Amino acid sequence: MADKLIIFDTTLRDGEQSPGASMTKDEKLRIAKQLERLKVDVIEAGFAAASPGDFESIKAISATIKDSIICSLSRANDRDISRAAEALAAAQRKRIHTFIATSPLHMEKKLRMSPDQVLEQAIQAVRFARNFTDDVEFSPEDGSRSEMDFLCRVIEAVIKEGATTINFADTVGYGVPELYGNMLKTLRERIPNSDKAIWSVHCHNDLGMAVANSLAGVMIGGARQVECTINGLGERAGNTALEEIVMAVRTRKDYFNLDLGIDTTQIVPASKLVSQITGFAVQPNKAVVGANAFAHASGIHQDGILKARDTYEIMRAEDVGWSANKIVLGKLSGRNAFKQRLEELGITLESEAEINAAFTRFKELADRKSEIFDEDILALVSDEEQANDKEAYHFVSLAQHSETGESPKAKVVFAFAGKEVTCEAKGNGPVDAIVNAIESEVSSGAELLLFSVNAITTGTQSQGEVTMRLQKAGRIVNGVGADPDIVVASAKAYLSALNKLESKSEKLNPQV
Ligand code: KIV
Ligand code: ZN
Repeated sequence: MADKLIIFDTTLRDGEQSPGASMTKDEKLRIAKQLERLKVDVIEAGFAAASPGDFESIKAISATIKDSIICSLSRANDRDISRAAEALAAAQRKRIHTFIATSPLHMEKKLRMSPDQVLEQAIQAVRFARNFTDDVEFSPEDGSRSEMDFLCRVIEAVIKEGATTINFADTVGYGVPELYGNMLKTLRERIPNSDKAIWSVHCHNDLGMAVANSLAGVMIGGARQVECTINGLGERAGNTALEEIVMAVRTRKDYFNLDLGIDTTQIVPASKLVSQITGFAVQPNKAVVGANAFAHASGIHQDGILKARDTYEIMRAEDVGWSANKIVLGKLSGRNAFKQRLEELGITLESEAEINAAFTRFKELADRKSEIFDEDILALVSDEEQANDKEAYHFVSLAQHSETGESPKAKVVFAFAGKEVTCEAKGNGPVDAIVNAIESEVSSGAELLLFSVNAITTGTQSQGEVTMRLQKAGRIVNGVGADPDIVVASAKAYLSALNKLESKSEKLNPQV
């Protein structure tokens, strides 16, 4: 019988460490529900001690998700571990994931601890975590740059203390598939109690080898858990992409001979949701979830596909959840149809008042756009969540004038803390004019790092989805706004980014 490969998703923890990808509690909950539909085995919901926001998100996810194990990261100290246990209290199945750096560089320069102190702290942490759950994961951070003898001592000791999963971390993406896989193999061969734990891989993509390293860890090293994120989101160049691991293992079952519990038809919806919430667009040629992943442009390929699909296709688009854009609702659809579609998309609005407000916005949109797709509904709900925040900036209206040979002008009306503010300015282009107008009132002092526009669906009627990335005092945030008018979408995106800058949530990054 084939072994099972455990899929551990860390989009909500390591993925969120990507600059600008921070998510609200409601956004995390929506992603967690989609991960549950995808049937991931473990959801790393956050790092409870990092911020009150992370703590509350893990708590909410623990109380809601029933099918996946919920995990919190914690450094190797009692305070972090207690905080993780508290946040996970309501989870049906919970895991505490504790870690400490084991490479000479990290121990000396970052932790300023001797190897013996690190060993002792790792032992204490696992012993303490076992008071709260039988499911304890231990990661030697920067494992791939650690010394073999020391790694063996630490891992043998933590398994003796009851660690049930050992996660061999390639924290800085330094690994090379053969070397990384062999290192894991040596660890498993040399550590006498290695068979008492499940071995896991956690790879970063700095050299573009995260997926290859993870698979080498599985095939050469014998790992049976892969840590990964949707769209490969994560620190710096990101983490191992879930969709690539899952589809590689499934498509090449002849080679990997491993079973998965994943519902692959939920991959594309998960990818779209994460991209839409974080504002991180998926590159068109991205494997599995890129818009071109199943598009055949060359005549020879198209001809081959028409004659026999498998001439050029190794996976079926529908198996990973690509479907032709479905027109789901229109101008004449009623409130019940709208509510049912929200439920099918996994969106739960708290109160009838919120459903009514979203329905009103849907009707407004349907007046301007005859065909409403799932993507439109997802964008509309994101806007709605912001509209419910009383302390936030809200877009009200906009007038804009552009004419060849003249500087574009914009007049923007927005609300803040219950008051309407009107502002006007000129700019190099219409978007510059609206940003200048808003800034003439708010003087945020933020620097605009990125401005991008994407069509949510096909056709010129499509809503434009705009992402604005702002930086201020070392913090980077993304604001997303959608509207059939891309200038309005830009104003919404800018206000949304300002709202994220305003939120006080200072977070600890586990690696710092
Ligand atoms: O990359 C890393 O080392 C991590 C650990 C905390 C597992 O994310
Ligand atoms: Zn990581």
